Amino acid sequence: MGAATVLLAAFAGLLALGNLAVSTAAPRAFFIFGDSLVDNGNNNYLATTARADAPPYGIDSPTHTPSGRFSNGLNIPDIISEKLGAEPTLPYLSPDLDGENLLVGANFASAGIGILNDTGIQFMNIIRITRQMEYFQQYQERVSNLIGPVAARRLINQALVLITLGGNDFVNNYYLVPFSARSRQFALPDYVDYLISEYRKILANMYNLGARRVLVTGTGPLGCVPAELAMRGTNGECDPELQRAAGLFNPQLVELIGELNKEIGSNVFIAANAFNMHMTFITEPEKYGFETSKEACCGQGPYNGIGLCTIASNLCPDRSVYVFWDAFHPTERANRIIVDQMLSGSLDHISPMNLSTALALDDARA
Ligand SMILES: *[C@@H]1O[C@H](CO)[C@@H](O)[C@H](O)[C@H]1NC(C)=O
Ligand SMILES: *[C@@H]1O[C@H](CO)[C@@H](O)[C@H](O)[C@H]1NC(C)=O
Repeated sequence: MGAATVLLAAFAGLLALGNLAVSTAAPRAFFIFGDSLVDNGNNNYLATTARADAPPYGIDSPTHTPSGRFSNGLNIPDIISEKLGAEPTLPYLSPDLDGENLLVGANFASAGIGILNDTGIQFMNIIRITRQMEYFQQYQERVSNLIGPVAARRLINQALVLITLGGNDFVNNYYLVPFSARSRQFALPDYVDYLISEYRKILANMYNLGARRVLVTGTGPLGCVPAELAMRGTNGECDPELQRAAGLFNPQLVELIGELNKEIGSNVFIAANAFNMHMTFITEPEKYGFETSKEACCGQGPYNGIGLCTIASNLCPDRSVYVFWDAFHPTERANRIIVDQMLSGSLDHISPMNLSTALALDDARA
């Protein structure tokens, strides 16, 4: 073998190593469960009224077209994907979610759902959380057929999972109508206990399905969204009853997560305090460059908080100065601030550690 051949062989070896390094450094898979705050478009495929597949939704997205995301542009999962260096996750029901695309992860979320099965019944055909987890199992079988059971297991164990639930159990259940069935059945603190006991089963099931890094968001300041300012609040003040609900639910969720981690013996679950994150720019919008945290960009009526955001609604010219895109959902810019706080926030925003710390730990372990 001549020197040149040896050199070539060494080069080929280096190239092969280079490829290997690239493939092992592929971004971790990402799975999303929950409601409209994190739905990437599953409801487009369902017979439901809970949908965001018409303009002006998506007006600031890369394609400037609606996709089913409840945002003017990107939503929280998209921005997390971006930070992971990954493609945005496809909705589980998308026909494009096949072959290699499966390895990116999947988004199982469905607008309108809650912790409870009876939450969002008015939206008819939506993917309730137990069904989302059945799909997760189905997904795992498909990936296992693609790359084999051992690699599939590793992909699931090393993935990041996001789960966002709870807001609809108040807004689209307990407080949906005066004297709702649940509000006649439970006083608010007992209802919260019940939600937490059901959430415990969901999270335990997530662990049993192989999830090992799970970001759980509490509810935002439910009483401060434009819809509630318009329907329940007085003089633009946050509705105290919905704020009380969020105020009871969130600390118990943090407690639950602490208990689960202790039982498992590892910090699998991370609690993101969406309430505190959101509250910072509701109380001081100017500090973050927002002009208003009360009025939605798209909608009608007081605070643009009544009804749906449609092509006939008022539409603000500059979405970047609004906290809320529609009556319930943040703008892309607000979503970016929330994700930054998840990544590098202090312990009053995310516990027992922030996401960048968690991801660095996982990378060191992988
Ligand atoms: C919700 O529905 C699923 C599937 O039908 C069922 O397995 C589960 O027990 C139900 N949960 C509650 C709290 O009733
Ligand atoms: C959160 O993450 C950043 C790195 O992005 C780190 O410097 C910081 O100390 C972390 N904060 C806490 C409270 O862990």
